[in-house]
Amino acid sequence: MIKDALVSIQDVSLEYTGKTSSVLAIKDISMEIYEGDFVVLMGPSGCGKTTLLNVIAGYNAPTNGQVLLRSKPIEGAGKERGVIFQRTNLYPWLNVRENILFGPKLSAYDKEEIEKRYDHLMDVIGLEDYQKSYPFELSGGMQQRVAIARTLIQKPDILLMDEPFGALDAVNRSSLQTFMRDLWQKENLTVFMVTHDIDEALLLANRILVMSQGPGQIIKTLELDFSKKILQDSSYIPELDPTFMITKREILEAL
Ligand SMILES: Nc1ncnc2c1ncn2[C@@H]1O[C@H](COP(=O)(O)OP(=O)(O)OP(=O)(O)O)[C@@H](O)[C@H]1O
Ligand SMILES: [Mg+2]
Repeated sequence: MIKDALVSIQDVSLEYTGKTSSVLAIKDISMEIYEGDFVVLMGPSGCGKTTLLNVIAGYNAPTNGQVLLRSKPIEGAGKERGVIFQRTNLYPWLNVRENILFGPKLSAYDKEEIEKRYDHLMDVIGLEDYQKSYPFELSGGMQQRVAIARTLIQKPDILLMDEPFGALDAVNRSSLQTFMRDLWQKENLTVFMVTHDIDEALLLANRILVMSQGPGQIIKTLELDFSKKILQDSSYIPELDPTFMITKREILEAL
C-alpha cells in the first residue's frame, strides 16, 4: 500500500503581481512530503524557495494548483505547520520560559499537558539553566533552540524551516545541525527545510530537491541516507564516504 502524503503539492505556480510588473516565482511544482521525511530544498538565490515554503505555510496562496495537508486543501496559516525563520522573532521582553509558553497560553490547551511538554522540551533543547534568561542573554544558536521549542510545543505535524541556521557562525551552525538531526529522530519530526549550505543538506536530509533559476521548478530529486547512517553509527564519518563527495558534486553541478 502506498502511504498517504502528509503534504501534497500539486501543479503549484505562483505569480506575484505588482502595479507595473509581475514575477512568476514558481512554476508547475508537484511534490510530496511524507511523515518522517526530512526534505531539504536548495536552489539559486531568488529561484522561489521561500515562495514555495510560504505556500505550504499558507502565507501565500498559489495562483495555480493546490497544496493539500492530510488530503485537505491548505487555507491560510495553521498551528499544524510550525514555521522557523532565520530571524527567531523571540519576544525580547519575555524570558525563555515565557517565550516558549506564549503561544499555547493563547489557545485552549490542558495546563498540565503543556507543563509536561514544556519540561520535556527544556530537556530536549538543554537550556534548563536559562529558563529565566532573556533572548539578548543567549547565543544565536540558543535563541534558535528556543524558537524551535516554542514551535514544537504546539505539536505541529510539520516543521517548515527557511534557512534557519543562516545567521549562525560555523561552530553554532554545526552544533544546531547535530541538534536538528537528533531531534528529527527522537521526536519523529517531519521537516521541510530551505538551505544554501550543501553539507548541511547532505547531513540532514533524506531527500534533497534542487530548484532551477526562477521561475523555480524542481530539476533534481535525490534520496539520501547519510543522516540515518550518522544516527545509527557514531563512528561513521560522512565526509570520508566517497558517495558523499559524489553526491555533493552532483548537487553543485545542478545548482
Ligand atoms: N512579495 C513579493 N512580491 C513580489 N515579488 C516577490 C515577492 N517575494 C518574492 N518575490 C520575487 O519572487 C522570486 C522568488 O523569491 P523567493 O524569495 O521565493 O526566492 P528564494 O529562492 O527564497 O531566494 P533566496 O535564496 O535569496 O532567499 C524573486 O524573483 C523575488 O524577487
Ligand atoms: Mg528565501
